Amino acid sequence: MRPRRFLPNGPLRGRIRVPGDKSISHRSIMLGALAVGETKVTGLLEGEDVLATAAAMRAMGATVERTGEGAWSVHGIGVGALLQPQTPLDMGNSGTSTRLLMGLVASHPITATFIGDASLSKRPMGRVITPLSQMGARIEASVSDQGGGRLPLILKGAFPAVPIAYRLPVASAQVKSAVLLAGLNTPGVTTVIEPVPTRDHSERMLKGFGAELEVETDQDGTRIITIRGEAELKPQTIEVPGDPSSAAFFIVAALVVEGSEVLIENVGMNATRAGIVTVLRQMGGHIEELNPREVGGEPVADLLVKHSPLTGVTVDPVIVPSMVDEFPVLFVAAALAEGRTVTTGLEELRVKESDRLAVMAQALSQAGARVEETGDGLIIDGTGGAPLAGGADQPVATHLDHRIAMAMAVAGIASRNGVEVDDTRPIATSFPTFEAMLDGLCG
Ligand code: S3P
Repeated sequence: MRPRRFLPNGPLRGRIRVPGDKSISHRSIMLGALAVGETKVTGLLEGEDVLATAAAMRAMGATVERTGEGAWSVHGIGVGALLQPQTPLDMGNSGTSTRLLMGLVASHPITATFIGDASLSKRPMGRVITPLSQMGARIEASVSDQGGGRLPLILKGAFPAVPIAYRLPVASAQVKSAVLLAGLNTPGVTTVIEPVPTRDHSERMLKGFGAELEVETDQDGTRIITIRGEAELKPQTIEVPGDPSSAAFFIVAALVVEGSEVLIENVGMNATRAGIVTVLRQMGGHIEELNPREVGGEPVADLLVKHSPLTGVTVDPVIVPSMVDEFPVLFVAAALAEGRTVTTGLEELRVKESDRLAVMAQALSQAGARVEETGDGLIIDGTGGAPLAGGADQPVATHLDHRIAMAMAVAGIASRNGVEVDDTRPIATSFPTFEAMLDGLCG
């Protein structure tokens, strides 16, 4: 454990560049490993989660090398050519690595064992086991207390796999991507039907790598994604944009700490990810998008964020998938806003790296916020801009969840007496430079 008390601090002033997008970084390595030839990646997030993906792709035959800061070279071996890993694939804390790689292995004639840390080993894998089994993969999973499949598990790929048409029962980009990646090496056309749109990086990148992938949107907004299997991927040069999910901690920190003004450069603004900016603006947050442009096939902007008095809002559940990882830090903004913030439709937050509804309700209450936990959300009555009391006897329990640690760090700098976080180590899964950046901006 590496505890730290985040003391009242700020204003935050200056300019930063957050690390590369985690979702795009994972996919750059996976798709690079399946293309024949060299894929060059810059701006790759060098967090533990992405390094777990890199190690797994090496274990299955690709050459994945770091050539400089954030610069990586991937020599791929081709769709269908993944090798049998000789040792279990250690996924660490990373749900994205696990679910997407299960998809890849599912249509290759290999068997892989997936293991992970205590947090990941509690998370539901039934959501990928169901469609991948329909495609012919055989999966022997551990059983969770609720009866569903979880890690450790052994996955025996199907060869040939069977193409399916799968309607997503949960709004999950990981499940969508697992089926599409399995479809890459499956004869015929694999279809994913997505009633609620989720992040679309897999679709964009698969197309970019030359897969035959099509997306149709019907009248009620349902997306129908098809991919033709036995694909040949062409190596790419990829510049990974900054991660909006990492930027979110600094956006909120700058909004809530008086006198702050921060420029966050190169932030991914893909509409399937940018919900946090919309909601913070509804709350009265000053967030300017400067120099909008395209980086690596994704919309990007520099965000100028200035301290603003915030007002509570009722968050429309329709926006949830486009900010699913940003709720911990949104709850911090709500705790410091004027009036009440109501969130609903957040059941999925209970199966992230921790149960983010229960853990944030507990953590914010300890920090002096007024929070009520419901079945599918939190109701928060804010301080109206006054700092949170902080100074609890007990440190906040982060349960191996990087985003709880970073959200409560932001709460700490906006408190009177500081907030102690029990363990800052998990921050390295997605944002190894977070603390240095925060300290730097606070001067
Ligand atoms: C991700 C999808 C989301 C998100 C995760 C990354 C991805 O998970 O929470 O951090 O890269 O596809 P779900 O698919 O479980 O919503």
